[in-house]
Amino acid sequence: MSGGVAVARAGVQAGGALGATRLDLAGKHIVLGLSGGVACYKAADFTRELVKAGATVQVVMTQAAEQFITPVTMQALSNRAVFTSQWDAREPNNMAHINLTRDADAIVIAPASADLLAKLVQGRADDLLSLMCLARPIDRCPLLVAPAMNREMWAHPATQRNLAQLRADGSTVLGPGSGDQACGETGDGRMLEPAELLADLVAFFQPKHLLGKVVLITAGPTFEPIDPVRGITNRSSGKMGFAIARAAAEAGASVTLVAGPVAQATPRGVRRIDVGTAQQMFDAVMAAALAQDLFIATAAVADWRPAAFTGQKIKKTAERAVPQLALTENPDILASVARLPNGPYCVGFAAESHDLLQHARAKRERKNVPLIVANLGPETFGQDDNALTLVDAHGERALARADKLTLARQLVAEIAARLAVVAP
Ligand code: C5P
Repeated sequence: MSGGVAVARAGVQAGGALGATRLDLAGKHIVLGLSGGVACYKAADFTRELVKAGATVQVVMTQAAEQFITPVTMQALSNRAVFTSQWDAREPNNMAHINLTRDADAIVIAPASADLLAKLVQGRADDLLSLMCLARPIDRCPLLVAPAMNREMWAHPATQRNLAQLRADGSTVLGPGSGDQACGETGDGRMLEPAELLADLVAFFQPKHLLGKVVLITAGPTFEPIDPVRGITNRSSGKMGFAIARAAAEAGASVTLVAGPVAQATPRGVRRIDVGTAQQMFDAVMAAALAQDLFIATAAVADWRPAAFTGQKIKKTAERAVPQLALTENPDILASVARLPNGPYCVGFAAESHDLLQHARAKRERKNVPLIVANLGPETFGQDDNALTLVDAHGERALARADKLTLARQLVAEIAARLAVVAP
C-alpha cells in the first residue's frame, strides 16, 4: 500500500465518510481571525479541526480576543506564532497587515463580534485584524465570518444592516447557530460549533457544479412491518446516499433527502424527510418530484411487503404451524419518477452480488433512466469506502475505490456534466 493511500484511509477511519474528511483542506492556508467573545474557546477546537483537515493556520487576534483566550494556546494549536498588533516588528518589512494575506486561501473570522462586523462594513482599520481584512487582495482571498453575539445584538437592525452589506461586499456569513447563550438567554447568535464551521469551510472550497439546482435523493433501506415487532428490510447503512446528499449540497444544490431508517447525521444544509416503508418513501418522493432538476435513487427499497399487517405479534406456539406470509409488490419509485412527463433527470443505483455490468445495463433499460451507478453490494454494505461504475448510453466509466464522500463528489461532477447537456 502506498503512503498516500495509508494516509487517506487513516482519515476515513477517524473522520468517517460523512465526518471531517481529514485531508479536505490539504494545501489550503487559512488566516483565522479572532475578535472578542466567549466563543473564542471554540476557536481553539476549530484550529485543531483545520489542522487535522490538512490546512496551515495563521492566527490573528484582536486585543479583545486576548481577554478570552491567550495567544499561547492559539500558537500551540496552530503551530505558528500568533499576530496581535499592527506594530509587530517581526516582519522584516514591518507590514504584517499586507504579508499575512498574500498567500492565504481565505480569512475566516471566528468569532466575529458585532463590533468587528461593523468595522469591516465601514472599512475601518485601527487594529491588525480589521486592517488586514481591508488590505487583503479581495479577488483571491475570500472573507468568511462566523458571528457570535447575544441574541438582541444579533437581531438589532444595525447588525442585520451590517450583515447585508457584508454579503453585498462579497463576504460569506457562516451561521450563526441558535440555542443557549453564555449570557443565559436563548436564541440566535451563537457561533457555529467547530465541526459545523469546518464542514461549511470545506463546502465553500468545493466546485459549484450544481449551483441553483434542486435535487431529491433517496437513501437507506425501507422497513416493511409484518407485525408490531418484525419486518422485512434490506441491508443498507445509508452512507453512500448521505455522502451524495452532502456532496450535492456542497456543489451548491438545494437538497432534499428522503431517508429510510438509518443512523446517519443529516449533512449540513440538507432538508431531510424520514420515512419507514417503501410506500411512504414513494409518497414523499412523488409529492416533490416535479419540482426537481435531478433525482438520485440510492435507497435499497424493499421489493415486497407483507400483503397484510398483523396488528398483534404473531406468537410462536407448539401447536401452530410456521406462518405463511403472503407478499405484495412495492411501487418502483425510480421507474415511477422516470415515467413522469417533464420529470427530473434520473440516476439509479444497482447493488449486485455478481454480473454487475450486465445487470446494470439491463436495469438502465428497464427503468428507462439515463444513468445507472453500479456497485457490488456485499463489498460496500456498511463500509466507509466503495467503487462505482457509471453506466449510460455511451458506455461505462469506472470510479476507483475511495471513501464514499470522495466518490460522491466525483459522482456529482459526472452527473452535473450530463445534466448540463440535457438541461443547460
Ligand atoms: O430494481 P432494483 O431494486 O434492483 O433497482 C435499484 C434502483 O432502483 C435503485 O436506484 C433503487 O433506489 C431504485 N428502486 C426504487 N424503488 C423500488 C426499487 C428500487 O426506487 N421499489
